[in-house]
Amino acid sequence: MFTLLIQKEEDVPLDGKVVLVTGSSRGLGKEMAIQLASSGAKVVVNYFSNAEVAERVVDEIRQYGGEAVALQADVRKEEEVNALIANIKEHYGQPVDVLVNNATGPQPELSLEDVSWEDYLNQLEFFVKAPLLLVKAVMGDMKEIGYGRIVNIGSEVVELGNAHFSNYVTAKSSMVGMTRSWANELGEFGITVNMVHPGFIPVERHGTVSDDTITSYTSDMALQRMGNPKDIADTVSFLCSDQASFMTGQILTVNGGKTFGM
Ligand SMILES: NC(=O)c1ccc[n+]([C@@H]2O[C@H](COP(=O)([O-])OP(=O)(O)OC[C@H]3O[C@@H](n4cnc5c(N)ncnc54)[C@H](OP(=O)(O)O)[C@@H]3O)[C@@H](O)[C@H]2O)c1
Repeated sequence: MFTLLIQKEEDVPLDGKVVLVTGSSRGLGKEMAIQLASSGAKVVVNYFSNAEVAERVVDEIRQYGGEAVALQADVRKEEEVNALIANIKEHYGQPVDVLVNNATGPQPELSLEDVSWEDYLNQLEFFVKAPLLLVKAVMGDMKEIGYGRIVNIGSEVVELGNAHFSNYVTAKSSMVGMTRSWANELGEFGITVNMVHPGFIPVERHGTVSDDTITSYTSDMALQRMGNPKDIADTVSFLCSDQASFMTGQILTVNGGKTFGM
């Protein structure tokens, strides 16, 4: 009996918690939404333009008994973010407990000759402005409850410093300081703020990845193989769980040992 009770708690570590994963209609966010729902969370599948694929993620979650709802919002827009958070409260009758800042738009690779300030701003809107709007919209309730989990999705590019990609690398790098500063500011309220740096994980938008690309990417990796979306979702789930309750302001790089942190 005792063992069973312990197993049950471990089976549903996010039981009843409301989890918002921005941009979770496809790619890495989709896997995070599915996995967090399987941990007992009431998940919000946020999307921008493609309602049909978002609804498919919700159906998948419901099929195995999980709870999810698809809600459209452009996370770069303050009115839409505020409406999203209000809709979530109305739908689930409780505020957001866990926020995963994951959404991304196109990520053009541009040389210094070609890149413009507008290109930088486009990336900063996704990786700095949107998370800022979201944290401001959810932190009041989190402070009141005395609990919150925020996970910012970064990238290994912060450690690699890829050439011809400074627009994206700069915006993702800004998230590092932002994560640490928020962790210091919100820690006293029981809110943790951490960051995950995924390596290159092919998703729908990458199409077919050639063997040459895979060989060249994996050749300098400790594990010498590609990762998959579940590797990232596992780490995000861990950071959202009680097992990570004494971790904040941390960056976990999940890339098979291609880089070794900063
Ligand atoms: N995949 C990788 O190799 C990799 C590596 C390192 C880091 N990352 C990071 O991991 C995160 C997810 O990447 P991904 O490759 O999984 O992306 P993805 O497959 O391109 O998915 C992007 C998601 O964001 C949504 N979205 C786009 N614009 C939005 C907006 N304005 N407001 C709200 N949602 C919006 C999309 O919804 P719609 O479909 O409706 O447009 C979609 O659900 C990103 O932060 C990315 O930088 C990815």
